Amino acid sequence: MRYLLVLLPLCWLVGAQNDVVDVMNNLGLRTTVQLLGVANLIPVLQARESCTVFAPTDEAFSNLPTDLKQQLLSSKMFLIEVLLFHVSPNTTMSTDWKNNQLVMTLLETISIRINKYPSTVAMTADGGVISNPDNKASNGVVHVIDQVLYPLPFDTIANEVGMVGQLYELSKVIEKTGFGKILSDDGPLTFFAPTDDAFQKLPNATLQNLLKNVTALEDVLSYHVVRGGVYYKAGLSNGEELTTLQTGTLECHVNRTSGSEPQVKINNAKIVGLVVPALNGAVHMIDTILFPPK
Ligand SMILES: *[C@@H]1O[C@H](CO)[C@@H](O)[C@H](O)[C@H]1NC(C)=O
Ligand SMILES: *[C@@H]1O[C@H](CO)[C@@H](O)[C@H](O)[C@H]1NC(C)=O
Ligand SMILES: *[C@@H]1O[C@H](CO)[C@@H](O)[C@H](O)[C@H]1NC(C)=O
Ligand SMILES: *[C@@H]1O[C@H](CO)[C@@H](O)[C@H](O)[C@H]1NC(C)=O
Repeated sequence: MRYLLVLLPLCWLVGAQNDVVDVMNNLGLRTTVQLLGVANLIPVLQARESCTVFAPTDEAFSNLPTDLKQQLLSSKMFLIEVLLFHVSPNTTMSTDWKNNQLVMTLLETISIRINKYPSTVAMTADGGVISNPDNKASNGVVHVIDQVLYPLPFDTIANEVGMVGQLYELSKVIEKTGFGKILSDDGPLTFFAPTDDAFQKLPNATLQNLLKNVTALEDVLSYHVVRGGVYYKAGLSNGEELTTLQTGTLECHVNRTSGSEPQVKINNAKIVGLVVPALNGAVHMIDTILFPPK
């Protein structure tokens, strides 16, 4: 995000306190500190007696899609909302967390989901890998994360799917069945959501036959849902099998090359785009519809 560094005035507020802002400066989290400055949130953090900051690295900001970067810089309200979601009012250390724990944020209505994955030894906050946890400050703690937490989990999986542009065909299909009810329950659920491109790949006759038979349609949809766990990419290991609601299993193929986002396939379907966190789980977009084994 070099242009940001050029455009915005630096606001190093170095105090003797070693508060969370000092700790972020010491950790070299320049973009996070700059954006907190733009949003006028630095005094807010410094005035707190207790807080936890999930602070993205500079690289995490530079990896954001260009339109999202522009949106963050052009709308202060939006920037404030996103940044408040990265701060918890309580001081919470990584040893306090259990898998799938929800941590309250300053964006009062929604929480960050923490996951601890034994199979990959990864710890995540809404899917973002916590690469450097537990940097103590005089008024809280800073956990460094490798991605910006966005989009925010405002709604249930059922409603989030309805709001994603690339999932239009899928939402029409869900409407034809009673499946929306499952995708709105407490979960936690992981939903692999075929994109419009995935539907395009299906021969027309296959799709038309499926749409005629709600039982068959629900069978296929339940093969896309894993209940009882929220599996972000960082939590999936190569060869791992996930049991679906349909009872059939899905096989994960994970290619981790250092320095880049892991490439993950679920059976023969590739995970594409940004993961969508939800109140009751997470949605991964996939480029191919999954059919349960006969
Ligand atoms: C966290 O902080 C909020 C707001 O200060 C408070 O209402 C809540 O009880 C705290 N939670 C815990 C677990 O301490
Ligand atoms: C697919 O089949 C349906 C029903 O037979 C037909 O109405 C529709 O036009 C076809 N769509 C395409 C893209 O061929
Ligand atoms: C609908 O699909 C179910 C499950 O695949 C199948 O058992 C049933 O025979 C199908 N019904 C019709 C009318 O094709
Ligand atoms: C894994 O990803 C790397 C980098 O994108 C690529 O060069 C390599 O061929 C991939 N390996 C497999 C087995 O797909």
